[in-house]
Amino acid sequence: MGTKLLCFVLASALLAYYLYTPVPEDIDEPWKVMLLSTSFRVMGHLAEVTDWLGLMNYMEALMLITTAEYTPPTSDENVTVTDTELSNVAVRLFLPRKPSEGLRRAVIFFHGGGWCLGHAGMKSYDRLARWTSNRLNAVVVSVNYRLAPKYHFPVQFEDVYAVTKFFLQRNILSQYGVDPERVCVAGDSAGGNLAAAVAQQLLEDSEVETKLKAQVLIYPALQSLDLNLPSYQENADQVILSRSLTVKFWSEYFTSDLALRDAMASNRHVPLESSHLFQFVNWSQFLPEELKKGHVYTGPVYGSSELAQKYPGFLDPRAAPLLVSDARLRRLPLTYILTCQYDVLRDDGAMYAQRLRAAGVPVTHDHAKDAFHGAMTFISAPTDLAVGHRLANRYLEWLDENL
Ligand SMILES: *[C@@H]1O[C@H](CO)[C@@H](O)[C@H](O)[C@H]1NC(C)=O
Ligand SMILES: *[C@@H]1O[C@H](CO)[C@@H](O)[C@H](O)[C@H]1NC(C)=O
Repeated sequence: MGTKLLCFVLASALLAYYLYTPVPEDIDEPWKVMLLSTSFRVMGHLAEVTDWLGLMNYMEALMLITTAEYTPPTSDENVTVTDTELSNVAVRLFLPRKPSEGLRRAVIFFHGGGWCLGHAGMKSYDRLARWTSNRLNAVVVSVNYRLAPKYHFPVQFEDVYAVTKFFLQRNILSQYGVDPERVCVAGDSAGGNLAAAVAQQLLEDSEVETKLKAQVLIYPALQSLDLNLPSYQENADQVILSRSLTVKFWSEYFTSDLALRDAMASNRHVPLESSHLFQFVNWSQFLPEELKKGHVYTGPVYGSSELAQKYPGFLDPRAAPLLVSDARLRRLPLTYILTCQYDVLRDDGAMYAQRLRAAGVPVTHDHAKDAFHGAMTFISAPTDLAVGHRLANRYLEWLDENL
């Protein structure tokens, strides 16, 4: 009896230890955040087990979360919602129902999920797009680009680029009653990465006449050159998005070859031949003092050139928009960047804000000191959070004022 009780107590203690996720003190609704984060972590471990047993690939297993969150395209009294294709790429289209006096604004949106997960039909993305469409009386095109591990870079980029380029044609904009002067790209996390890359590439494309009014980057991933930035070090085991999951997402964007993942995990994936690129992600130059605090800059450690030859994507600005010269940043449109304190990707966004400003681009940089990666997706019950609503409202307010 005594032994059984002892075993029970020990097992409970181990389980509690496993389930416990420390949540930073200044995060609101800490118990709810811990519950959400623990659920994510447990699902991550289950996915590792299914992968290890050969039942299902890790990312495919995590994709079940996306599937569970799926909601079909349903119109409401304000917005007509349809799933369709633009330029042969799947999109979810949100068209305001109320009659418009003049031309409308438009937001081309790319969802997050590490280029591997997510869908425009996930409850939170569907909701945010509906709110955007209703509140701004805007057309919202939410793109279902193809995902890894089935498709790798540059497929994701090419899908969102094709939709954007198609939509920006004069006759298409006029078909949807959209003002060519009031179109933006927007996205969160991997979607913010895609939005930034699309905005850059459009500037180089002589076939595109319409200019974007703005780019909106919600806690974007903007480079995988240095995966040991202060934000990576501070938030390696942070809620929702850990460093190791980020490394999985980044490497899976380019290949399922575990050699790249391992090299990225130890931050030794960039060869000496590419050393000149580190000037673009030099956090000792581009981060404000408060984010550098307590960290010492050491130069990069180089890896073999074989990986970069096989998977050159990680050195490509279409995957890493920070890796371009100031001259190429100069012509970018008005920019909104949201960064969160408790986020491995925080310093990507902070460095981009700094570099864009230095290049003369008007930037609004909101830094949410009490928020974590992905916070803006927690806007529908039962997983909604006050911080999610606050950030979403701010995003809509900025769009309404600036688009
Ligand atoms: C439709 O728009 C009105 C006014 O913005 C809002 O009060 C209402 O909740 C919206 N309906 C839906 C289903 O979102
Ligand atoms: C980064 O910037 C620091 C100065 O802040 C400089 O000493 C260092 O050489 C730079 N490193 C690279 C790789 O650009």
